[in-house]
Amino acid sequence: MGSGTEVIDVLIIGAGAAGLFCGARAAERGLSVQVVDHAKKPAEKVRISGGGRCNFTNLHTEPSRFISENPYFAKSALARYTPADFLDHLRARDITWREKKLGQLFCDEKSTRVIRMLLDDLETAGGELRLGVRVGAVEARDDGYAIETSQGRQFARNVVIATGGLSIPKMGATGYAYDVARAFGHRIVTPRPALVPFTLSGRLKETAAALSGVACDARIATADGTEFDEAILFTHRGLSGPAVLQASSYWKEGEPVTVNLAPNAHDHLQTEKENHPNHSLARALEATLPARLVGALPDLLIEDGPDAADLTRRLGDIRNARLSKIDHALTGWTLRPAGTEGWRTAEVTTGGVSVDDISSRTMESKRAAGLYFIGECVDVTGWLGGYNFQWAWASAAAAAEALGA
Ligand code: FDA
Repeated sequence: MGSGTEVIDVLIIGAGAAGLFCGARAAERGLSVQVVDHAKKPAEKVRISGGGRCNFTNLHTEPSRFISENPYFAKSALARYTPADFLDHLRARDITWREKKLGQLFCDEKSTRVIRMLLDDLETAGGELRLGVRVGAVEARDDGYAIETSQGRQFARNVVIATGGLSIPKMGATGYAYDVARAFGHRIVTPRPALVPFTLSGRLKETAAALSGVACDARIATADGTEFDEAILFTHRGLSGPAVLQASSYWKEGEPVTVNLAPNAHDHLQTEKENHPNHSLARALEATLPARLVGALPDLLIEDGPDAADLTRRLGDIRNARLSKIDHALTGWTLRPAGTEGWRTAEVTTGGVSVDDISSRTMESKRAAGLYFIGECVDVTGWLGGYNFQWAWASAAAAAEALGA
């Protein structure tokens, strides 16, 4: 199909969340559709997502939870295909889910159930899937596009690029979308690893490594003032946990981040001193922080933080001015990450094909009619918590509706 001289309606490159969803919806409209992927298995990132349970959407989806050079770009697609629409889709296929926290919806079954749904939808609608296909350049012709593949030259009236971002190269991530986009004159917003742990260096790294596995609630703020209230986790290399992953999407190399280790305990130490003057400082801190972290505070909070002797002192023996300095050090721990763990562990890519020259209504290139970019390859990146899949579904639905129209 589509090779030799036959021209199919739609060739979708990339059989991930966006490509498969788009393929089924376009085929349901009666278009001839082929989805190709160089990997041997489709939708591998769906499989590993959400700890194996696919956090497939978020009830609080709104444009402010997406990062893009143009914050308004995602609005149209997100408004026209909402989390409620995706839930209707799942309901019709007897797939059940639960909310874990913060509007994050996960499958009750394994994430492979979502992959099976995507594949069944495509097949039922008459779309074709070909795996293990290497894809080369996309060339414009009068009647559409010619695409070099390891299965010969393919011809299609429309081409949808759904090859995702650069994260996790060992799972087959490539910069293919950026190459195609550049070839048609699109600008690329520098791709950066996002939703990724921070690495630390020197003494801070050693302290974090010693605390590896310790987690606590925190508020983390990046230099641009973006804040996230969630858990942080110390690791052998530095810091992880949901709050850190979220902050990493807004962080730029060399910038500091500020961590509030007592977000819900304002003036906690003063109150403890009034109520329990005989308690040690360590005991007061352990009311809100893990004991191992309290023991390591002298190494972490170098400026104005408690030293080892302070930790054993009675609260009643510590002057109020000193307590408020310690409180200040706890709530404003400023550190400079050495970097991030990079593409190897990043969940997503910020940046990508600039939205300047893409229609926000249809995802079609403004430079090449019949060429579409959907999903993560576009410069739209969601927060942690199901937002990236919602973007994959919504951008795929927008393109599928417009294809061949
Ligand atoms: P996706 O990356 O899914 O698919 C792209 C496809 O294109 C792949 O099948 C790939 O093989 C193929 N491809 C690439 N280059 C090619 C080439 N040159 N030729 C042919 N084919 C090519 N999001 C979320 O909302 N909730 C969650 O729970 C999670 N969890 C999660 C965990 C982990 C570990 C990761 C890495 C990521 C997540 N994500 C997530 C992010 C989410 O997985 C991601 O945003 C979507 O899968 C993006 O969908 P796309 O279809 O755009 O790309």
